[in-house]
Amino acid sequence: MNIILLGPPGAGKGTQARRLVEERGMVQLSTGDMLREARTSGTEMGQKVAAVMDAGQLVTDEIVIGLIEEKIREGNAAGYIFDGFPRTLGQADALNELLSRNGAQLEAVIEMRVDDSALVARISGRFTCGSCGEVYHDDTKPTKVAGVCDACGSTDLKRRADDNEESLKTRLMEYYKKTSPLIGYYYARGDLRSVNGLQDVEKVASDIAAALA
Ligand code: AP5
Ligand code: MG
Repeated sequence: MNIILLGPPGAGKGTQARRLVEERGMVQLSTGDMLREARTSGTEMGQKVAAVMDAGQLVTDEIVIGLIEEKIREGNAAGYIFDGFPRTLGQADALNELLSRNGAQLEAVIEMRVDDSALVARISGRFTCGSCGEVYHDDTKPTKVAGVCDACGSTDLKRRADDNEESLKTRLMEYYKKTSPLIGYYYARGDLRSVNGLQDVEKVASDIAAALA
């Protein structure tokens, strides 16, 4: 089963993708995580996209399609969760093409609906584990022991360079201009399922499970 999690910055895509990985053994493909990894490992591409990401703009279709193509070629039985990809109509067309070339198809597109007003609080309180990727929040999901990851015990807890109010404004604008048209595109294809992303994490997860049943 291959699915897309679609929603604005802070909608909870990464949080729900990690649950689906744990519960169903699916593979999370987050283009945001891949790009951040390219930055920390100092690749030429990583250096090229750093300023674009920090400003909250989208990197080019060519770069992210290349990253996804590489992963899909590796294949996997339980299916992929596309998290933060596709983000443009060009990327959506490329994904169709890549899946069909690999004899696979898209099962569902989960739209995570949230209000912009909730996003500032979610983004400004977020931190993640640099070692295992667990996602936390200062108020809604703090670590049990301050400074230590609950999941793996690492003390490498990080905040993202683009998690500030200025970049968030640009990220939201990019979402409405370039990514939200995908809602209509997938609705027309009959693939769209919408869930209320403002509920607590457990309820969102159970609504996603119901949408995939
Ligand atoms: P990316 O990393 O994809 O960031 P994003 O889309 O802005 O989304 P986020 O990761 O910020 O939010 P999320 O929905 O994953 O929320 P999370 O679960 O963490 O992309 C970053 C950048 O990379 C882009 O701006 C662009 O430059 C580039 N890029 C990436 N993909 C690209 C592409 N395809 N094309 C071009 N450029 C690309 O949750 C957020 C917080 O809320 C956490 O603290 C969490 O604990 C909390 N939370 C989650 N769910 C709930 C809930 N139900 N209730 C309360 N709190 C919650
Ligand atoms: Mg994310």
